[in-house]
Parts: sequence; structure tokens; C-alpha cells
Amino acid sequence: MSPRLTNKVAVITGAASGIGKATALRFVSEGARVVLGDINETALQEIAALIGVAKGTVAVRTTDVASEASVKALIDLALKTHGEIDILVNNAGIAGDMAGPDQQEEGVWRRVFEVNVLGALFATKHVSAHMMERRQGAIINTASVAGIRSGAGGNAYSASKAALINYTQTTACDLGAYNIRVNAVCPGLVETGMTQPLFDYARGAGKENKLGSRCELRRYGRPEEIASVISFLASDDASYITGQAIPVDGGNTASLNLPGMKF
Ligand SMILES: NC(=O)c1ccc[n+]([C@@H]2O[C@H](COP(=O)([O-])OP(=O)(O)OC[C@H]3O[C@@H](n4cnc5c(N)ncnc54)[C@H](O)[C@@H]3O)[C@@H](O)[C@H]2O)c1
Repeated sequence: MSPRLTNKVAVITGAASGIGKATALRFVSEGARVVLGDINETALQEIAALIGVAKGTVAVRTTDVASEASVKALIDLALKTHGEIDILVNNAGIAGDMAGPDQQEEGVWRRVFEVNVLGALFATKHVSAHMMERRQGAIINTASVAGIRSGAGGNAYSASKAALINYTQTTACDLGAYNIRVNAVCPGLVETGMTQPLFDYARGAGKENKLGSRCELRRYGRPEEIASVISFLASDDASYITGQAIPVDGGNTASLNLPGMKF
């Protein structure tokens, strides 16, 4: 298979771990030059070293997506380094808490929305003018099955991902006339930094076989399985897809039944 992203310039947030890191590695393997932002400076430097700064394929900047100035600086770095941006992946996200309905904290909701929703807004805002001028671009937002159904995350997290899916649709409508495609991926359960406590708990309790068991494929996903769909959506192979929120979840959202409960 020939590389699909040759010479494309991609900005990826939350790129130092999990799905974002797998996406950065996949994009580079597909021929892209990547500009990576993450709040975790140490992990960001590690991935830069992994990809190889010497190849000129990667630039990094410590970024808090909840800060518009910080996100603008990341976009400016990409434009200064490469003169163009073809792809934006709004991937940075946090989980919030699993508090019950009477224990919801305003501070948790604000931070989750600042990172998961405003983070995508700031990057989209600052990349839009450039993409509109060039009349091309692809934006991919990492949402979640939690934004489609309950039971996959806390209240604030799920609401933030539902908001991100809707924002994907409204921006796709705004930007479609400029040949800019905007889509979301909705991962199911994937082993990453975010879900590590759950995986550690399940393994410690001898319940590893329960992880991912509620989806039709009866297993959890790997970050690379999300990265491959993000890569597809970023590429010209997806040239007629926009405004969609695509579950990459082993069939989790396809059924009302729990596997094993059908008769
Ligand atoms: N892991 C799953 O099961 C799963 C399922 C559905 C959706 N997602 C989504 O995938 C995306 C990536 O998460 P992941 O699972 O790879 O987790 P992860 O924790 O491994 O990666 C998230 C990255 O985002 C960074 N980040 C957090 N806050 C940030 C901020 N304010 N500014 C910049 N960077 C920040 C973290 O430092 C980290 O490197 C998230 O949006 C998450 O909601 C994950």
C-alpha cells in the first residue's frame, strides 16, 4: 500500500500518549510531517526523539489546549515551520470523574469541557482561516462512544463528547463549501494512559477477561486501531466523508444486547 499522507502537514493534540501517539506514528509512516502538542512536556520530548527530529518530520510544542493562546502558538509553529497545515487532529482529552448524580462538581465539569470541547474549538478556530484560504483541509476530532450512549464514562466526560460530536457536525456544515472535511472518531474501550487505572484494577482483581467483553468483538481496542481510522479520515481515501462521527468500538454501539445475553 502506498503512503496516503505524503508531504501532508498534520497538527495533532494530545500526541504524547495513547491514541494521539499512535496517530503521530501512523501519520509519519504514511509520509506526513507532524507538529505535536501535549501538556506533558517530558512525554512529548520522548515521542519527538522516537520519531527522529533529525528527519525533519516532527516538531513539538508543550501545549495546554484549554488555553487559546497556547493552542494558537502550536498552530503558529506549524505554519512557521511548514507554511501550511493540511490536517488537524483534535485528540487531547481528559476523563473527569465518575461521581454520582448528587456529587457532580462544577470544577470537574468546567475543566473537562475546557479540555475536551474548547480545546477542539480553539484549534479549529485558528486553523480555519488558513484552510479556508487554501480551500482544503481535514479535521478529525477524537470523540467517544460515551458521546453516543451512556455507560462508557462519567457524566461530564460523556456530555463533553456529545458536544464534540455536535460541534463536528456544525463545523462540517460551515466548512464544507471550502472543501474542508470535519469528522469524528468515537473509540470504544482502548488501553491508554487515560484508561490505565481501569486496566490495572481489572488485572489486579483477576478480571482482565471482562475488559471489552461488552462489545461484539469481545475485546478491547488498541490505540493503533483508532489511529488507522483517523489516518483514513485524514486521507483523500475519505474525500467524500464529512460531518460523521464514526464508532471504532468493536461493535459496542451497534447492539442493545450484551453479548452472551441473546437467545
Ligand atoms: N482510551 C479510551 O478508551 C478512549 C475511548 C474513547 C475516547 N478516547 C479519547 O481519546 C483521546 C486520547 O486519549 P487516550 O485514551 O489516548 O488517553 P491518554 O491519556 O493516553 O492521552 C491523552 C493525552 O492528552 C494529553 N492532554 C491532557 N490534557 C491536555 C491538555 N489540557 N492540553 C494538551 N494535552 C492534554 C495528555 O497529556 C495525554 O498525552 C481523548 O480525547 C479521549 O477522550 C479514549
